[in-house]
Amino acid sequence: MADNKIGAAVLVSGGGTNLQAIIDAAEAGKLPHVSLRAVISSKADAYALERAKKAGIPAFVVSKKAAGSQEAFEAGIEEKLVQCGAEVIVLAGFMCILSAEFTARHPERIINVHPSLIPSFCGKGYYGLKVHEEALKYGVKVTGATVHFVNEIPDGGRIIAQKAVKIREGDTPEKLQKRVMREAEWKLLPAALEQVCAGIAAQKR
Ligand code: GAR
Repeated sequence: MADNKIGAAVLVSGGGTNLQAIIDAAEAGKLPHVSLRAVISSKADAYALERAKKAGIPAFVVSKKAAGSQEAFEAGIEEKLVQCGAEVIVLAGFMCILSAEFTARHPERIINVHPSLIPSFCGKGYYGLKVHEEALKYGVKVTGATVHFVNEIPDGGRIIAQKAVKIREGDTPEKLQKRVMREAEWKLLPAALEQVCAGIAAQKR
């Protein structure tokens, strides 16, 4: 039902395959409580922006460099969130750290997908391919992905969902990254977004 939908904005920095998974889930009718209101990219050349445009979702660039400071950067993001009426913020390959002030303004309203089983291979400095490089270097036999709420601790907020993925002989960081995305991230993130928005919608009733 349209009046039961919660506005969501997706923050991205790169290719946007997780954004695509959310768009595909929405188009397949799997996100009945989610209204995708905006895509906000920290990078002007992120392919995720093209994906948003193709799906007809308003897309914006808010660059930290152009903003000049963390405060101005976050004020730029907040402005877009208010304009588009987003209550939930999805970090989908968003490669910037948000300040404690920002996360405190949105308690249990920001969700992030991380490409490992938290608390392994996470925290400051662990992002993108680096996470898979470290997992292979350590020699773990199982890795995976985690969707969690975002608080002031990098990758430290309450866990919403996790899925394990087996390491295979001959895995490279690139091969592993693709498999973790395909088997875990692209399934977990849309499902977790729907779960969070359904919960908020239920509280409003
Ligand atoms: C994804 O693997 C995501 O989990 C990771 O970056 C990739 C972005 O891909 N995020 C982090 O490492 C955050 N700590 P995408 O742009 O194709 O969705």
